[in-house]
Amino acid sequence: MRSGKSTYGLAMLMAAAMLAGCAAGGGGAGNQAGGGTEASGAARAGDEAKASGGDQPGGEEASGGSGRESSRGSETAPYLWDVHTTQELMAADYLMYRVNCGAAEDTGGETGLYQTADDQPYGADAGTGKQWGYRPADYMEAVEDDTGEDLTRYRWEIAEGAEYDPEQTGFYYDFEVPGGTYEVTLGFYNPFSARTVTAVAEDQTVMEDQKILKYKLTENAFYTTVTDGSLQLKVYNPDRGKDAMKDPVLSYILVRAVPEYTADLLKQLLEQTEIPENVIPDRQTMRYTAGSYEAFSEQYQAAEALAQKEDAPEEEYRKQYMALKDAYDGLEEIKVYDSFLPGKKWTDDEGNLIQAHGGQVQRLTVTDPATGQTSEKWWWVGEDKTNGSSRSGICAYSSDDLYNWHYEGIVMRNVESRAQLDEEEYFTSLYADYTPEQKDNVFTCLDAGSAIIERPKLIYNEKTGMYVLWFHADGPTETSDSSYAAASAGVAVCDTPYGPFQFIDRYRLNTCPPDQEDKYPESRGMARDMNLFVDADGTAYIIYSSEENLTLYISKLNDEYTYLAVPPEQAVYGRDYIRLFPGAQREAPALFVRDGGYYLMTSGCTGWAPNQARYYRADSVLGEWENCGDPCVGDDNHTTFESQSTCIFQVGDDYIYMGDRWNSEDLKNSRYIWLPIEFDEAGNMSISYTDEWKLP
Ligand code: DGJ
Repeated sequence: MRSGKSTYGLAMLMAAAMLAGCAAGGGGAGNQAGGGTEASGAARAGDEAKASGGDQPGGEEASGGSGRESSRGSETAPYLWDVHTTQELMAADYLMYRVNCGAAEDTGGETGLYQTADDQPYGADAGTGKQWGYRPADYMEAVEDDTGEDLTRYRWEIAEGAEYDPEQTGFYYDFEVPGGTYEVTLGFYNPFSARTVTAVAEDQTVMEDQKILKYKLTENAFYTTVTDGSLQLKVYNPDRGKDAMKDPVLSYILVRAVPEYTADLLKQLLEQTEIPENVIPDRQTMRYTAGSYEAFSEQYQAAEALAQKEDAPEEEYRKQYMALKDAYDGLEEIKVYDSFLPGKKWTDDEGNLIQAHGGQVQRLTVTDPATGQTSEKWWWVGEDKTNGSSRSGICAYSSDDLYNWHYEGIVMRNVESRAQLDEEEYFTSLYADYTPEQKDNVFTCLDAGSAIIERPKLIYNEKTGMYVLWFHADGPTETSDSSYAAASAGVAVCDTPYGPFQFIDRYRLNTCPPDQEDKYPESRGMARDMNLFVDADGTAYIIYSSEENLTLYISKLNDEYTYLAVPPEQAVYGRDYIRLFPGAQREAPALFVRDGGYYLMTSGCTGWAPNQARYYRADSVLGEWENCGDPCVGDDNHTTFESQSTCIFQVGDDYIYMGDRWNSEDLKNSRYIWLPIEFDEAGNMSISYTDEWKLP
């Protein structure tokens, strides 16, 4: 039977973690498992019966094939391969016991083939009848540790003040197992100062003076051979002396049968390993990330090729066996969302982190250029910060439900070099009509090496049928090296939201009228953080920080939405533009309308660091805006729940706050904070934090 992923997924995970841990833990004395030739040289379950424990060479096979059907030679206990089929053991990933030491109650964790409890005093297992467990002693104290997870959450310690006999005091376990060789892994999650532990299995010291560091997980694995039906284990510290700071601890024990790695065993693994289809049937999206699926397919093919060879060294079979299991276990499922998880990693339907920072979401009717199908979709544009600040361009994502997003690509690409504009088809067709001087300007404004492209916002123009993309276009100028010297608003157009958008130009915008106090007369018409708003009558506005971010402006756009309604020199204050809150230093504007009332959400100006939000209300876009204070409720640090506004959009009767939690050290790993907005009867808005929420 082909088993499919679920059959041994968890067991595989354990195996992978264990082997990785062995490599990292290392250091112990004795016959260590899991590493290269040492592992293959050790005796295995099914080998001829030998005296217990110790370093044993891999004996002659007791029987042909990996099934190890015959034991022969056991005087005291049946052999593992007589008791179980290879399939049975393989399905359990050879795990006989997985003891979560000190776990008093059932933790719901995985258990081995022979056990049903996480831990127990020595006796018959309630589910399997196998005799196993620890030898109870007064000095043993079971401790639960909040800092640990799963197997490191519980451990045995030595009770404070207990009398300690260096030879006798320790943790003793017995495990009923058929004859054979077992790989035993001990896990130590030590909350105390560094100390050492020693282990004896089947009367042989298999681990000596293993150093266990404070709050570091240390694992040590070794092989031991059992002939009498019971694997005996003792973990202690003979060097403890009178110093209680040297008491041993023990977090977990894994007992795993060791198979012989052969072509036959590899074939059986292949048979059990279903190649899962990389599609979620009802969604028609990928189930696993492309990278992990490719890695798995590669290992599967390599295993198929090796399984055809009958005479490869056992180590080669072992490595390939492990590689296939690891690759299977490493198949990374793409998360399908059914809620918003503010501040958590948000991946698209291919498993990649969504790159749409400083963005905007809206409902659009779009025609997919690939299929020609027209449908309504949620459309998210934002900054791709894969390469840091904003070197990659402007991205778009689409969605049917606002939770799960599909990458639609870079809709406006940045330019790597001036030559690229004359050489690469993408740019030559996009800028075919541009003069060399215009292309020079495109390069200056979209130069991937120096231009700053932030806070893109997209609007559809009903009259022209064009999509118009505005953004904060910045970068050095002829007179300044500063990366935020240009302080302009850039604009690009396309007849589809899929792009490619054709960059038109970047502009300085309106200026402070002579009868008002310009907060930054040194540089006029600046435009940085920006947003767009289209009113019910089709008039579009650009809202932006000006006067060195000291004053917000709202300026009317022309009928095409591609420039100001009136050039700055002819603009009439109050008709074509307004200045808001001079000197108040607001940025990150998000303007929306609700029940005929206009709202403007803003942040303060503290670079990438979050600060306190403030919102304003007005009866019209160019009207009187009233300061309504901070809408965040319970935001004790006054940081807008560690975010900065970028857009507020409507879903049915509801409104969603969209903010960025910037990670200035690693901008591509900035997170999104989307929260529901509440309104009281008077229309006052409030935002409360929640870790997870769904649309009503
Ligand atoms: C805050 C702005 O809102 C962001 O878009 C970005 O420009 C940072 N400042 C840069 O410090």
